Amino acid sequence: MSTLLLIHAFPLHGGMWTPQRTALAGHADILTPDLPGFGTEPRLDGEEFSMELAARFIEEHLATRNIERCVIGGLSMGGYIAFQCWKLFPERIAGLILADTKASEDTAEAREGRYKAMEKIGAGQYDAYIDELMGKLLAESTRNERPDVEARVKSLIHESQQESLSPALLGMAGRPDSTPLLSTIDVPVALIFGEHDAITTTDEGHKMAEAIPNAELTIVKNAGHLSSMENPGEFNAAVIKLLERVGS
Ligand code: MLT
Repeated sequence: MSTLLLIHAFPLHGGMWTPQRTALAGHADILTPDLPGFGTEPRLDGEEFSMELAARFIEEHLATRNIERCVIGGLSMGGYIAFQCWKLFPERIAGLILADTKASEDTAEAREGRYKAMEKIGAGQYDAYIDELMGKLLAESTRNERPDVEARVKSLIHESQQESLSPALLGMAGRPDSTPLLSTIDVPVALIFGEHDAITTTDEGHKMAEAIPNAELTIVKNAGHLSSMENPGEFNAAVIKLLERVGS
């Protein structure tokens, strides 16, 4: 059975992939590591969080388990890191899942937003920041009709380490433009986007579908930015399809 390694979004942790671990267990061996400073994983001493550092951490995670090649998937920040994985060790990657993410670097406005968020967190307004973020992470329909999903997202965020948020915001603000990589991706790719994603809109998915040679785009209904948690049924079906394409 092939291995599927899933990289979590900001500011959650590997526990966000529970619906995939449960439903996809018969299709792949699933790894859902916490990134350094998230969940229970300690921060790396003296190193600044960056997408490259996180990709190196993933490479090490695979190497210590003697996994030579696998499918790598990432949602949002996890996708930014998946691009770096492709850049740094493509030989280990049999397929890619890029969910609710984008290849481009931050605009000046997006960077400004991150610096403001860091100020807020630094000023002790962590709860206010998380409340604001919740409105962007989930579709309105999820918030209105699926209080269990919202509660789960909140608890995943609160389980992450508060002091890791600002370094990760800084790391995302400084991430490189991955657009030049798109045409070099020569393995099967699943692009999966929540139809109501307010952070990385479906336009990003369409753009990447045009630029990546072997990509299939799935728009997940009744879902926002956290499509894997908001509509795991449709998300998982797209993952299974990708695993079949990789295996054939
Ligand atoms: C995420 O979900 O990982 C973040 O929203 C990504 C971002 O802020 O760009």
